[in-house]
Amino acid sequence: MNVENRIHELRAELDQHNYRYYVLDEPSVPDAEYDRLFNELKALEAEHPHLVTPDSPTQRVGGSALAAFSQVRHEIPMLSLGNAFEEDDLRDFDRRVVEGLDLPTGDLFAEEAAVDYSCEPKLDGLAVSLLYRDGLLVQGATRGDGTTGEDISANVRTVRNIPLKLQGTGWPAVLEVRGEVYMSKAGFERLNAAQAEVGGKTFANPRNAAAGSLRQLDSKITASRPLEFCCYGVGQVSESIADSHIGILEKLKGWGMPISRELRHAAGVEQCLAYYRDIGARRNDLPYEIDGVVFKVNNLAAQRELGFRAREPRWAIAHKFPAMEELTEVLDVEFQFGRTGAVTPVARLKPVKVAGVTVSNATLHNMDEIARLGLMIGDTVIIRRAGDVIPQVMQVVTERRPESARPVQVPSQCPVCGSQVERTQLVKRSKGKETTSEGAVYRCVGRLACAAQLKQAIIHYVSRRAMDIDGMGEKSVEQLVDEGLIRSPADLYRLTFEQVVELEGFAEVSSNKLLDAIEASKRPSLARFIFALGIPDVGEETAKVLARSLGSLARVQQALPQVLTYLPDIGLEVAYEIHNFFEDDHNRDVIQQLLDSGLQLQDEGELAPEFAASTTLDSMIAKLDIPSVGPTGAQKLVAKLGTLDKIIEADGIDLRQALNTKQAEAVREFFKAPANQQLARAIEAQLLGFGMHWASEKKVAEGLPLAGQTWVLTGTLERMSRDVAKEKLESLGAKVAGSVSGKTHCVVAGPGAGSKLAKANDLGVKVLDEDAFVSFLDAQGIAV
Ligand code: IVH
Repeated sequence: MNVENRIHELRAELDQHNYRYYVLDEPSVPDAEYDRLFNELKALEAEHPHLVTPDSPTQRVGGSALAAFSQVRHEIPMLSLGNAFEEDDLRDFDRRVVEGLDLPTGDLFAEEAAVDYSCEPKLDGLAVSLLYRDGLLVQGATRGDGTTGEDISANVRTVRNIPLKLQGTGWPAVLEVRGEVYMSKAGFERLNAAQAEVGGKTFANPRNAAAGSLRQLDSKITASRPLEFCCYGVGQVSESIADSHIGILEKLKGWGMPISRELRHAAGVEQCLAYYRDIGARRNDLPYEIDGVVFKVNNLAAQRELGFRAREPRWAIAHKFPAMEELTEVLDVEFQFGRTGAVTPVARLKPVKVAGVTVSNATLHNMDEIARLGLMIGDTVIIRRAGDVIPQVMQVVTERRPESARPVQVPSQCPVCGSQVERTQLVKRSKGKETTSEGAVYRCVGRLACAAQLKQAIIHYVSRRAMDIDGMGEKSVEQLVDEGLIRSPADLYRLTFEQVVELEGFAEVSSNKLLDAIEASKRPSLARFIFALGIPDVGEETAKVLARSLGSLARVQQALPQVLTYLPDIGLEVAYEIHNFFEDDHNRDVIQQLLDSGLQLQDEGELAPEFAASTTLDSMIAKLDIPSVGPTGAQKLVAKLGTLDKIIEADGIDLRQALNTKQAEAVREFFKAPANQQLARAIEAQLLGFGMHWASEKKVAEGLPLAGQTWVLTGTLERMSRDVAKEKLESLGAKVAGSVSGKTHCVVAGPGAGSKLAKANDLGVKVLDEDAFVSFLDAQGIAV
């Protein structure tokens, strides 16, 4: 077959698939097949550019940007619709139709005539007119003022379900199709998420998103937006199509035009009302937003007889649903302290009815959202309640801002417990450098002392992986807190038999059992205890790292955030969470109370040898984030100058002996700031206080047999869980990683091991099966 024929064949086939997909809603081929055909066509057209035609399915990508839209005059004006809000408004409309058509009006002798109406959803988008000449799309226009609109031909061509060419036969030579361009709810969410990601403009609702996308001078932007079209009528036609409205729509559907799946007949006004109620009940479940339904007298002769009144047809009406957006005032912004301590700003609104429900609060999510909205207390805002979604503040109407408007401020202290409210830190790494910035979330750091967080804190504290207090379920924690018997975890250890036996679900035996379990939990490992404290972002793994590396609770409590970043897998973000937690007086109090109530940590001891070994003056300098000074620069500096004091006091000449000019200047500049000097000295003092010795050379970790090694576990182990295997390896000093690399020392592979085992074999990494692993542990004196 020659190229030209193949191109025609591909276009016909793609048009057919598009039609089945968009108009009939019954796709005939999988997306992959469609893509294959599409790509073949694209390739052929690229090779033979003279064969490209404007109606090819490949021509929906948008063209070059316009300077302005030109104007288009509508041969037949694009009118608007009258509105009905109440059921009686619709009955009045029907009465006018019946009278206008001189039909029997339900008096004593005749039964009231049931007018044949068409029923369609009223899509919330924008009206467009599409002009087809000889079956080809030649022009697209907006409604404008109804008489003159804008030429958006290049843009409508990018809308996927607008046919560039009509299907079948029998269409009038001149055919103007009218309908709504809209954005689906899902498309709107996707677009806003993508816009927010790149810091672009987000849209208040699908209607604005559709309008903003369609009225782009650059049609490539329109092409990237998820727009859809639904046809609801015709404008000028060179010959008549059918004698009823629904007849016309069905013809159009046959020619490839998407029409509403919800199009129905109704015999008389009561059936119209039933349609309204049915669509209303399904409104939230429809994939697009509607603001009502439209009823039209179906018979075209009857339409002509009724005619128009001003700019509205007498034969059609929009029956509106309650609006999903309203204006109201922000009376105040309050802060809710959640169960994790996160602080959520909530707008208190002057009560307003939105889509039938009175709204007096709306969440503002976080401070970034308030900044994005530019919201101040006293502002008038647009509130939107989409379906079951919690009401949202979409926009501030800045023009209505009163002089008394004031900015929103986060309280510096938690109103519940009085602890500090801290802003979370975000840490970004690029080119090996860490930079911190402020996060959107504020948090009350009084984790153990804050009543707002207490239940969750205690549920976590007693849980199996934490203090493992058997018999203490969530229900009992809730009861104990509600009855005021527990105000902090330390109170657990003061519970008496008399108090427990009163709780719901506790008898004599179970009460004694619980008290025994509480008693038995008094000797936890340091790691368990740290995990049980529920420090934000500190899971079991991090707790173990802290315990193993620092060895004592005192060191963990004192550690500076920068010092914590010496530990494996702890970045500045988590380091600050840990530091803030232990800085808080309330938290310190509770920890002291816990220790006073007889809690004894089992395994406190020295600093881990690998920690001491890796903590050298040059690594400390490298971690100070002095611009352009990395590990190598830091090493040279220490080799030349020896101590931190000398480095801080060095002049340009001294520094240039060790570093290049740029680096030397950066070091001098850095230590010029007293704050940086202080920080470096504080870190040094702490590291020295932890019993670490300065040495430029890294010492080989001594002590634990697997220190410095990385192991990987994969597949299922039958004689122990992966968690247990991990703990055992870690107790020997190994780090357990999630993936295999050239740096892996050994892989333990149980049955079902897959890609990790294959990779280990590829890289020649040593592999142990479960038996060999158990023997190895045995040899190390660890029982399974
Ligand atoms: S018929 C003369 N049908 O509503 C009749 N309009 O207020 C003209 N709309 O500008 C319109 N869905 O943007 C009609 N199924 C539907 C509609 C619909 C949405 C919009 C359209 C029009 C406005 C009229």
